[in-house]
This record gives sequence, structure tokens and C-alpha cells, in this order.
Amino acid sequence: MKNIFRFLFLSTIMSIVLCGCMPNNGNDSTSNNYTVSKYDKQIRELMSKMTIEEKIGQLNMVGGDWDVTGPYIRADFKDDIKAGKIGAMLNCYTVDYTTELINLSVDSSRLGIPLLLGYDVIHGHRTIFPIPLAEACTWDLDLMEKSARIAAIEASAEGLHWTFAPMVDICRDPRWGRVMEGAGEDPWYGSLIAKAKVKGFQGNDLSDDNTILACVKHVAAYGAAEAGRDYNTVNLSLRSLYETYLPPYHAAVEAGVGSAMTAFNEINGIPCTANKWLWEDLFRKQWGFNGFVLTDYTATNEMIKHGVAANLYQASVLAVVAGVDMDMVGQGFLKHLNRAVENGDVSENQVDKAVYRILKAKYELGLFDDSYKYCDKEREKSEIMTPEHILFSREVARKSMVLLKNKNQLLPFSKEIKSIAVIGPLADNKFDMIGGWSAAGDRNTKPVTLLEGVKNKLGDHATVLYALGTKFNTTSTAGFSEAIRVAEQADVVLLALGESNDMSAEAKSRSVIDLPGNQNLLADEIIKANKNTAVILMNGRPLTIQHLDDVAPAILETWFAGTEAGNAIADVVFGDYNPAGKLTMSFPRNVGQIPIYYNHKNTGRPYNPDDSWTSHYIDVDNSPLYPFGYGLSYTDFVYSELKLDKKEITENQTLNVSVIVTNTGNYDGGEVVQLYIHDLVGSVTRPVKELAGFEKIFLKKGESVTVNFTIGVDDLAFYRKDMSFGTEPGEYDIYIGGNSDAKNSIRFLLN
Ligand code: BGC
Repeated sequence: MKNIFRFLFLSTIMSIVLCGCMPNNGNDSTSNNYTVSKYDKQIRELMSKMTIEEKIGQLNMVGGDWDVTGPYIRADFKDDIKAGKIGAMLNCYTVDYTTELINLSVDSSRLGIPLLLGYDVIHGHRTIFPIPLAEACTWDLDLMEKSARIAAIEASAEGLHWTFAPMVDICRDPRWGRVMEGAGEDPWYGSLIAKAKVKGFQGNDLSDDNTILACVKHVAAYGAAEAGRDYNTVNLSLRSLYETYLPPYHAAVEAGVGSAMTAFNEINGIPCTANKWLWEDLFRKQWGFNGFVLTDYTATNEMIKHGVAANLYQASVLAVVAGVDMDMVGQGFLKHLNRAVENGDVSENQVDKAVYRILKAKYELGLFDDSYKYCDKEREKSEIMTPEHILFSREVARKSMVLLKNKNQLLPFSKEIKSIAVIGPLADNKFDMIGGWSAAGDRNTKPVTLLEGVKNKLGDHATVLYALGTKFNTTSTAGFSEAIRVAEQADVVLLALGESNDMSAEAKSRSVIDLPGNQNLLADEIIKANKNTAVILMNGRPLTIQHLDDVAPAILETWFAGTEAGNAIADVVFGDYNPAGKLTMSFPRNVGQIPIYYNHKNTGRPYNPDDSWTSHYIDVDNSPLYPFGYGLSYTDFVYSELKLDKKEITENQTLNVSVIVTNTGNYDGGEVVQLYIHDLVGSVTRPVKELAGFEKIFLKKGESVTVNFTIGVDDLAFYRKDMSFGTEPGEYDIYIGGNSDAKNSIRFLLN
């Protein structure tokens, strides 16, 4: 086992060393065998009829006109579809429209090959769920699978075959606007989510009418952009790539993801779209990926600016030779591959492999049996935004919320209050509250605002006052006096602060991640006016909210919680749901601490307050404001000492560790019991803690439960000094608690 890993690693190193030069000899060093599909015969038969132009057409994706998600390059797509020059499209949906497009491909092109239609269905299609970073805070994998299932049902009911999700990029830098799309900072947890999402989108059988092809992205390490600036250079050690960034992509491959997207960035000096090591060696040979690879939006063209290709011809050659199958929007393959094949810079066999993989996906989706199977008007009417989907969105939303602070148990508010003031730029603002990448979600009319949610909850029992207070990007305090007036009149206040919709997601990096505008100032005034003020945060990333933490008695992080946000927040605020969400990304105290993450290394000079020559800042603590795994409840949980069933194990044994958790507070409630492991001495430095298990429990007031975890060799394996993957004998500490700062520990020995 270990030797195999060693071999794979060494071949990897060799490939890294060798890969990425201009592949202008046309030689195709990868295997000549296709990953054979059960549709092999049909695919080969079809391919035997295709001209080289028609083959290249299958590798070409163009943008439709229902959405624009990047620099727009208009393709005359209707004529091109008929001419067999387009294999796939993005950003087009609704049954009328997709029927028209499919019709052009099936009835008006020579071979009648159906188009593949994709879209960024990231957190719901029409029924919008909380942003993925929020959903991860539920620590509920079944729930995350189900929200992907519902997204697939709705997307497929509107003619879509394919989603560009899950996005599984690990990120330790909240300045990066795309942290909202991922699961946060932990590779192990992120991998579990990657699997759940692929399963949810693709279901058990891709040929079912309501399953869609998933696309793992952005491969690889897009979340490691320097300084958190989107599209920026990535500069990583191989160890860091393997330990931190690759695991979730690998997990998606293990779950059978049907496609993968190249990241915009480079790895080891080679843009991912030209990285043969990544695609041919790692994905296909080592991981057994048998789907197809798609570039990100114009990523082929961008290799000219990266400076690895002089022109689009060279860039397209680089991409195809690296094992990339489909070109998103940039048209390089369409314009240049034919000549590249003639010149011998790309072999026809390489083109054939790409065509084969794309046709395989179309066969597996059932598009050759019935090209219109996703164009069903009835389904479009009956399966979108159903009461069941909306109800589930509310459940996901309330489970995503993280209670960051609750001084003197200010929350939950009693439903018996006589008056409440709902204040702030996000108090009654449909447009800004469902977050970026909200697919076909109607952000103008559908989201339930906080004000609406509070009114729905309280009915006529209380007076509900409202004031805007301020806007996101202003220094004007013109709205303050009205806000202060309503705050003073009310029994309690909900102050909804955060980011506007356009402050997170793609191309939305921020260098300052404070509450924008003068929202802190507004908070000061409102809290002064009414001490029973709970802050409701809506945002797409961890923010630096030290000031708020200093002044606000209660803070509920609700993220961008989707269609049912307002109702779900009201459920939590008025105690119909006891919050149990736990952060999956650390909240820094200030931007100077970034990158900040719980599973860091110890260093040779870990901080010691009595020794100034140790690793620390002179102006801020080392710790985050709120650590990974953190989140409060309305009740309290007490953890017993940890118990082991044995003190020592060998590689073939497992170990049981148990803890008794007791609900000692005044409410029934849920808790995420988290297990972390620390390897004390390794052949390489090891993180101070790594998440290796969790269990979500629910305890009635006063109730106790014993939680057991089994630890085996898989939980202890890592990339050793020679980069082989396996364990090393020695001592390990286990920590169990309600967040990554858990101190409750016990030691065992691996012989
Ligand atoms: C993004 C991808 C997205 C694609 C298509 C790109 O700009 O990076 O995540 O899937 O556009 O919309």
C-alpha cells in the first residue's frame, strides 16, 4: 500500500518536473485507451460519422443570453448550433428556450447531436438555499445532499442538464469574495461536503429525468489566491497542495463527479488549463477520473496574459494536450484546433478522446434516448418552488445560522413583547439578502425579508416598527435619527447589518472586511438607544467585527440565508429553533491576521506570553475572534473527561474514545461534538489540530448522552517526509469539544 503511494508520488514529481512545456510535437503520451463507457459502441459509431469540424464543435461551449457570468463574447450561436459547431451552452434555461436550442441541435444539425446545457446552480435554482459557506455551518451532510437534490430537480425541470458545482475550493482568506461558494477552511470536512453535493446533484442514476451532471471546481487551489485577490497568482508548496487543497477535489472524483473545471490560476508556474500533470497524471491516471474537463470562462484565452502562450492557437494546443476537453466561451478550440491537428500539434486521437468523454456524458444523461427529456412543461410548472422545497429552504436556513454572542441570554426574544423595531440596510431588503450565484432565484420579489419574517411570526400581537438607518456605502447619518427614534420606542430591536449582494462572490475581493459604510456607527447609536438590541448579520464571508463584538449584546450570523431567510431568522430569534450552527471558517480580529485557520503549524516558537521572542503580534492577539467550529446555543453543553478503550493501538487496530455531553441549560438543543487529532512528533511538522470526526446530537434540557468515536489508521495517515501517504508510530492527542479551541484532551500511542 505504502509502496504504491510512493510510486505514485514519484511519478507525480517526475510529471511536475516534465510537464507544461509547449507540447508542439503532437505526441500524445497518455494512454490510447478511452475509459470505456457502457455506451462505447454507440459513441464509436457516432464518432465514425463525424468530420473533424464536427468533433471540434463538440468541444466548444458558448454562452446563451439569459445571464452573463464573465466577459461576454458573443457567438452567433443559432447558426453555429445548426452547423454542428457547438457542443454545449451555458446560461440558458426555461423549457421554451431550451426546447428551441435542443431543437436546433437535434433537428437542424447534420448528425443531430443534442446540446449539453449548463448553469451555475450553486445554492438552489429557483428556490434559493443559504450560500454554501452558510450551509456548511449546519454540519449536516444529509441536508446538504438534499438541497443539491432539490436544486437538481428544479434545474432539470427548467431544461438544464448540468451544474457548475460543487465549488470545493478550500480557502483561508476571507478577503477572497468566493469564500461564500465553498465549505470553508477544512479539507477533511470540505471533502465530505464535496461527496454529499455530487451525490445530491447526480443522484443514483444520471439518466433519471431529475438528475444533473455535477462539475467539481475550480481545479486546483483557486482558493489560495495570494492576498485573497480573485484571479491572483497561487504559489504553494507541493505539501500544502496535497494536504490542504486537493482532498475535496479527490473526494468529488471518488463520488463519481461527471465533470471538472480548470481553475483560472497557475500551479507551480503552469496555469491549470495547461497543466497536464493535473489532468492526465493526477485526475485521470491516479484518481481514475472518467468524466470530462471543462475550462473556466475564457481560461484558455487567458493563458496568453499568463504569459505561457503567444496567441490563442498556442493556448488552445496547450489546453487540449494537457487533457482539457471543452473550452468555455473563448472559442479557441473552435477557431484553431483543426489547424493544430493538421499541423500535428494536437493529435486527432487527443481530440477523439475529448469528444468521446463529452458524448459519453450526453449518453449517460439519456440525451440520445430522448433529447427533450429535460424539456417538460408540466415539470416546469409543478416542480419549481414547491411548498416542500420552500419549507426545506427554511429548515436549511435556520440550521445554518451561528449564534456568535448572547450576553445575558438576550436571545431568544419572547413572543409576548409588545413592540419590536427592525432596523438596518438589510432589515427589509429583498435584493441584497440571498447572496451571489443565486442562479435563477428571483431576488426582487421572492426572498422573505427580516421585517416580513418578524411580522409573519408575531402577527397582530406586537407593533413592528421599521427604519432603514443607513445604506451600505455611505457616510451619511441622515437616517440615524429616525432609526434611533424607533429603537427607543420598542421593547427590543433587531439590527440587520452586513454586506450588500455585490460585495461577495466572483471578482468581489475586499481588502477591508469590516462592516461597510457607517454601519458600526449606526450600531453604536442603536445599542445606546435600546440595550435589548440583537444584531442580525447577513454577509458572504467572515467579517472583522471586533467592534460589534465589543458593543453588541447579541450577534446572530445568518449569512445570506436564501429565499426563506426572514422566516428562518424569526424562528431563531423567537426561540422556535435553538441555533446549533458552527463556523467552518475562522473570523479574524483584523485583516492583518489573515491567513488565519485553526489547523496551523506550531512553529519552533509558539506563542508564550512570558517570552516576547515567540510568534505573536504586538498589537493583536494570535487567536481569531471566533474560531473554526464555534457557535453558541440558547442552552449550555458540558463535556465530561474523555475515555479511551485502550491506551495503545497498532496500525491494524481501532481505538474508541468517548465523552459524555450534558445539556445543562434551560432549553432543548443541538450540538456539534467535534473531534480533533494532534500528532505530537512526525517526520514532518504536523498541524496543532486536525478535525477527524464530528457528531451532531440533540439533547433535551437536562439530558446526557455518551458520544463515541472510532479512530483508525485512516484518521492518522498523512503525507510523510517522502510524501508517501500513511501513518507513523508515536503519540497522538485527541481533543473533543464544541469548537476547534477545545482543551479537553487525552493521549494515546500508535505502535
Ligand atoms: C466562474 C465559474 C463559473 C463560470 C460560468 C466563471 O467566471 O469562475 O465558477 O462556473 O464563470 O459562469
